[in-house]
Amino acid sequence: MAHGRITGWASNLPEQVLTNDELASMVDTSDEWITARTGIKTRHIGGKVTEMSTRAAADAMAMAGVTADQIDLLILATTTPDQQMPASASVIQDNLGLTCGAFDLNAACSGFVYGLVTAMQFIEGGLERVLLIGSDALSPVVNWEDRGTCIIFGDGAGAIVLERSADQPSLLGWDLMSNGDAADLLYCDHGDKIVMLGKEVFRKAVLAMESASLNAMERAGVNAEDITLVIPHQANVRIIETSLKRLGIPFEKAAMVLEHTGNTSAASIPLALVDALNQNRVNTGDLILMVGFGAGMSSAAAVVRWDPPQN
Ligand code: COA
Repeated sequence: MAHGRITGWASNLPEQVLTNDELASMVDTSDEWITARTGIKTRHIGGKVTEMSTRAAADAMAMAGVTADQIDLLILATTTPDQQMPASASVIQDNLGLTCGAFDLNAACSGFVYGLVTAMQFIEGGLERVLLIGSDALSPVVNWEDRGTCIIFGDGAGAIVLERSADQPSLLGWDLMSNGDAADLLYCDHGDKIVMLGKEVFRKAVLAMESASLNAMERAGVNAEDITLVIPHQANVRIIETSLKRLGIPFEKAAMVLEHTGNTSAASIPLALVDALNQNRVNTGDLILMVGFGAGMSSAAAVVRWDPPQN
């Protein structure tokens, strides 16, 4: 149980949009196939993690009304840092003029939820404000000749400001898991492109989403019917539909952006969260279930009680 209120949020997508029809001119596929098998219509490409993250974070800080010197820690969830070193978090920290610790966290597409749980521990440990970013630029590591992978990935960033709160706990329950024995189902070697066994990833993803969600809900002491909004990792609409059906949560409760973003890895949950918040889909006391899975294979879920910002 941790006390950390989300007081600012924002996202950023690169300008360049790649449509399914454009993909169909690059590989043997079609808009109909991609739409039916994934739910994706367009994705943004050409992004750089440090640039997208800096823009999203600056907007989230402005919304929260916090200045650079008030941020105590920056956590960047990413699996595609701009450079091997330094950490992209350090570059973003400098861009934003922060004077605090900063580090990258790599748990692939589960990274934002791993980051949320980590940030909450730091707040419980005494910090006042943590800036959490989820960002990935997958377009440089996509094999644009492989129709089995190039259709699903995109670039983006989402950021939130977390502030210590004296009110009721906001992180009610969580679950972090990794199954390294399935690491060869989805990987990218240094200097190489993404390799994915899509069908097997799909099967494991459904089970991981279910198991992580059930564990987080059990630890939070809540049931599926108590969940007001689900923020699932945006990889494939069929994975989300199947997982939610197994959990007994209506699909209408899911925040969805993948139609226009594709799978943006660590950015996908914050992109969907920001979209839901901007659409006023969240009210005081609502229970939000965030759940993701990804390379590793990692999975993560968190049940968050929504307390509106008070500034
Ligand atoms: N366009 C047209 N046909 C395609 C295609 C494409 N882009 N990609 C694959 N196909 C073909 C295959 O070659 C196969 O043809 P065959 O039956 O003649 O051999 C057929 O479609 C079915 O392929 P399959 O791989 O079984 O498709 P699928 O329904 O599993 O869909 C994915 C493929 C990648 C969309 C799906 O497996 C998926 O989304 N997996 C999870 C990926 C994921 O979530 N990754 C990120 C994890 S964080």
